[in-house]
Amino acid sequence: MITLNVDLGERSYPIFIGRQMLGDAGLIRPCINGTQVMIVTNETIAPLYLDKAAQAFAEFEPRHVILPDGEQYKNLEVLNQIFDELLVQHFDRHCTLVALGGGVIGDMTGFAAACYQRGVDFIQIPTTLLAQVDSSVGGKTGVNHPQGKNMIGAFHQPRCVVIDTDTLTTLDDRQLSAGLAEVIKYGLIRDIGFVGWLETNMDKLLARDPEATAYAIETACRCKAEVVTADEKESGVRALLNLGHTFGHAIETGAGYGHWLHGEAVGMGMLMAADLSMRQGWLSEEDVRRVENLIDKAELPTRAPHNMTYERFMELMAVDKKVRAGQINLVLLEAVGNAVVTTGFDPELLRETIETHRATE
Ligand SMILES: NC(=O)c1ccc[n+]([C@@H]2O[C@H](COP(=O)([O-])OP(=O)(O)OC[C@H]3O[C@@H](n4cnc5c(N)ncnc54)[C@H](O)[C@@H]3O)[C@@H](O)[C@H]2O)c1
Ligand SMILES: [Zn+2]
Repeated sequence: MITLNVDLGERSYPIFIGRQMLGDAGLIRPCINGTQVMIVTNETIAPLYLDKAAQAFAEFEPRHVILPDGEQYKNLEVLNQIFDELLVQHFDRHCTLVALGGGVIGDMTGFAAACYQRGVDFIQIPTTLLAQVDSSVGGKTGVNHPQGKNMIGAFHQPRCVVIDTDTLTTLDDRQLSAGLAEVIKYGLIRDIGFVGWLETNMDKLLARDPEATAYAIETACRCKAEVVTADEKESGVRALLNLGHTFGHAIETGAGYGHWLHGEAVGMGMLMAADLSMRQGWLSEEDVRRVENLIDKAELPTRAPHNMTYERFMELMAVDKKVRAGQINLVLLEAVGNAVVTTGFDPELLRETIETHRATE
């Protein structure tokens, strides 16, 4: 087992990465302060992992709440089901919530923990690759609004993150690829060496080779932990982690939540960011091909939905959180392995990027 640390003073916490860790009471015991534990999961994950995960919390006689499965349920109405259960079961403010699932469950459980009685503890047990390499670390929590992704939320750090890589064996291929998009992201942002490693090892990752997978997760978590330590509330360097996300969130919202997976939209968005960077004169055509090949190799889409016109993108990107004082901030690439946040892009070039990448129908 590997232990990484997210260093945030009194809000510091460990990330445990390894195999056969679900149900390990010794691991999570130091992370629990009170006596009440509520496991939040969904109808897909519950039959697979709820009993096993609950074993780790047996001494607390954990309760659970099972939410419907899907990005379209990541909203305030479904969030209320968690509060209903907590109140019915008389949970007090020393309780701990446990997020057992992918990024949707993690974001919702974390947000419920941030709000319930003005803030209670929570633990992340991420079960998708995407959640293991990204969403479970860093304390961003929240739900969607019909007008925009993740628009209602809070920063709330977990007490620990337990990444049992064995849970990935039941994940379907499309979800695995979606997670790989966020893995690729770390390389493109700040680690050219990791880009090279991914180019060589993508086949192993798709074949779920345990060693390669563990290495990718560790590298991603290390990067995320460093960035979050340097800039917890995203006033600087953390914004780079949004590479591909301004385009991606527009695609997710525009296509209707649940149609494009978050990671698929992010992969597409990273390719568009690379393309715009080339049009700005920062990247070579060869660089863009390299990004496209990597995304393609991860079996991610390389064409945006046909209905996502320039006007629709602009409309949706204007409500994205990266907009400041009316200007759209984009994360672009100065080089493969070096991202920057900029408002300095030419809208005409952006139009070209969007038109070039829209599917023909
Ligand atoms: N908070 C953050 O920093 C952050 C970062 C990135 C993404 N996100 C959010 O994460 C969400 C996407 O997360 P996701 O990709 O994990 O999607 P998800 O949570 O919807 O999970 C994907 C699917 O896989 C199923 N599943 C989960 N674990 C499984 C397993 N081990 N075996 C079989 N099936 C399993 C789920 O039930 C679901 O159907 C988005 O809402 C996105 O906004 C948040
Ligand atoms: Zn993301």
